[in-house]
Amino acid sequence: MSKISILGAGAVGTSCAQWALIKNLAKEIVLIDIIPDLAKGKALDLVQSAPLFGYSGKIWGTEDFSAIKDSNVIIITAGKPRQPGISREELLNINKEIVKSCSEKIKNFAPNSIVIVVSNPLDAMVYVAYKITEFPKNRVIGMAGVLDSTRYRYFIAEAVGISPKDIQALVIGTHGDHMIPLVRFANAAGIPISELLPQEKIEEIVKRTKFAGGEIVSYLKTGSAFITPGLSVMEMVESIINDEKRLFTCSVYLEGEYGIRGVFLGVPVILGKNGVEKIIEIKLLPEEEASLKRCAEFCKNLISLLNL
Ligand code: 2OP
Repeated sequence: MSKISILGAGAVGTSCAQWALIKNLAKEIVLIDIIPDLAKGKALDLVQSAPLFGYSGKIWGTEDFSAIKDSNVIIITAGKPRQPGISREELLNINKEIVKSCSEKIKNFAPNSIVIVVSNPLDAMVYVAYKITEFPKNRVIGMAGVLDSTRYRYFIAEAVGISPKDIQALVIGTHGDHMIPLVRFANAAGIPISELLPQEKIEEIVKRTKFAGGEIVSYLKTGSAFITPGLSVMEMVESIINDEKRLFTCSVYLEGEYGIRGVFLGVPVILGKNGVEKIIEIKLLPEEEASLKRCAEFCKNLISLLNL
């Protein structure tokens, strides 16, 4: 059994811890936040549910980052969340300093861990963690594709009237307005969605998927989604900890794959005990390839603003 540390005890961090507990993923879950006592309170509330779930591990909270020592997986959720009218990209500078500081702590106290970044703007923040930790690229991963693909799958399921379990689909590219919900791979138990839905409906779903995070922000007003983001992270963690070799879209460092170099972008990868074990290169149509290149340019611009 493993040790998972979660940096940031806000809504997403707490949701990650809750799903880890429900899935019984670790013998120890550490929740860390710089706000005095916040992580302690959240951890205590979570661990008191243990008798109901049959969880027998430890969950505890602290402000002391040295508690991450010996973690197998560390999740960075710390940072300012989105609010109405604020794009993920507008969080760049404030969250850069937070992710930088978390990454320095990880490098110092848990040099062998696998890092999953959730803070926004995601593809730039995972780049910050990669640069600061200086970990090999297989051990620094961004969570977004699982969330975006899950939302896409749900919207398709709702439109077709089929169980969401039977829908497979993937979203690649950036975690932002340029994301690419791929239509030709989306299917219901193997049947392409183009056989099940009219073109206008598919276009509507693609658009809704791209702005699905913002749709929730507009309702919540004080923050962003946290339930499905937390579970999306824990699906990745589960595949890593149990060496399941699941295939997910994750933001990973590209070094020539898809003809792109030097940025983190969401592409399909296999996750196992070594983190990213393989990047799957699918042959894209010219317009899909052009959209992915646009995502890469967008990320390069963001990275250039980081001054790392
Ligand atoms: C989301 O997509 C805010 O990035 C987060 O819900």
